Amino acid sequence: MRFQMLPRETWPDFLDLPWDEPLAKWRSSRIVEVARGISRHVVRFVDYDGILYALKELPARLAEREYRLLRELAAASVPVVEVVGVVSERGIPTAGFPAEEGTPSNANGDQLGAVLITRHLEFSLPYRTLFTVRGIGDLHTRLLDALVELLVRLHLAGFFWGDCSLSNTLFRRDAGALAAYLVDAETGELHPSLSDGQRAFDLAIAEENVAGELLDVMAALAEDAEPSDARIEDPLAVAAQLRPSYEALWSELTRDEIFAPNERFRIDARLRRLNELGFDAEEFELLTVKGGYRLRLPTQVVEAGHHRRRLLMLTGLDVGENQARRLLNDLDRFRAELRQKEGRSLPDAVVGYKWRAEVFEPAVAAVPAELAAKREPAELFHELLDHRWYRSEAAGHDVGMADAVASFLEQVLRSVPDERAPIASPPT
Ligand SMILES: Nc1ncnc2c1ncn2[C@@H]1O[C@H](COP(=O)(O)OP(=O)(O)OP(=O)(O)O)[C@@H](O)[C@H]1O
Ligand SMILES: [Mg+2]
Repeated sequence: MRFQMLPRETWPDFLDLPWDEPLAKWRSSRIVEVARGISRHVVRFVDYDGILYALKELPARLAEREYRLLRELAAASVPVVEVVGVVSERGIPTAGFPAEEGTPSNANGDQLGAVLITRHLEFSLPYRTLFTVRGIGDLHTRLLDALVELLVRLHLAGFFWGDCSLSNTLFRRDAGALAAYLVDAETGELHPSLSDGQRAFDLAIAEENVAGELLDVMAALAEDAEPSDARIEDPLAVAAQLRPSYEALWSELTRDEIFAPNERFRIDARLRRLNELGFDAEEFELLTVKGGYRLRLPTQVVEAGHHRRRLLMLTGLDVGENQARRLLNDLDRFRAELRQKEGRSLPDAVVGYKWRAEVFEPAVAAVPAELAAKREPAELFHELLDHRWYRSEAAGHDVGMADAVASFLEQVLRSVPDERAPIASPPT
């Protein structure tokens, strides 16, 4: 057997699992059932001290390839599931071994493919589950926006997906919106950059897959007795929105702009617009053209995570992009209050540290252990801010954080389902 693993202190060695059996037949106390999308391959989840890992059995060549692609995408800061390793050459050495010469098998003659191990993405929701949870207003717009952003980010990084679909994507709450993560990279190809044709082709695949998947969920929802507000009238029209949304974002991020010599301010305006969208340009190019300049932003230098990086720098908190936006707003409010109290401005780093220690951490720490699996800390904080606002509105004055936390825990958090690793619902 061959274990090819990335070295991380916190990861287990996985040696106690029944590797000489096909994954589908495993009986282990570590196996857990969590909500997940449909798939061709056998995918199962194991639990090591409360941390879950996804195991996917597939031919060695594909597993190696997916392992490599997931690593490369992570290095390019694209949101993907975190890869742990690949286990191959399983079973007993027989003729036809090593693996390159065929799929190894065990004493019973079961074929044993390789197994790709990834870390289960905590608080992620497969798209079918999204249609059953509450609290995501305007779900199909959110879903589409998240998928479009993921696809654009992959394309900026030069990744042709080849199988973009809702079931190959995982969604996490991101301050009321959704953030999408790539889960299945098996069909992908990484290039220095993509041609327009490659991007259009990837988009066509996505549109077709998403249309089918939405039709599917709607059929399932229609059978439910309970009316759902997540119902979509026209799934095909929703899927058809994918292309224009993608084109709009792609163009905002990458289009060339021509301006006159006295319009230098347009460089700033463009870069600011990029930041508002949550992106940064590591560099830009100016080319002189007739009558002025051409501003170019090569795809390789446009990177997502503007607010996220800023919050990380100020507070050490690493959260979703929209969550970071929200937390930064609260940090600004805190800065203004502090300035008034102290009669002077404190350095950014000090304000960031104080805000984290005096505002963020106490709110998160107030959540009792039995409610900790409901929401991820940054999302919890976002919902808490909303709750505080609503209560203050109703009361006609600011109710304060302590009051908001207490009522949020009892009136809201206690009654929502756990989302850290949602349990699989019985198959329908
Ligand atoms: N790291 C992970 N965290 C959470 N869920 C995961 C993870 N890995 C896989 N899953 C779940 O398992 C499902 C199947 O995984 P995946 O899409 O990789 O399998 P597949 O057999 O390659 O799919 P396909 O049929 O598209 O080829 C996903 O839709 C997802 O819900
Ligand atoms: Mg898949």
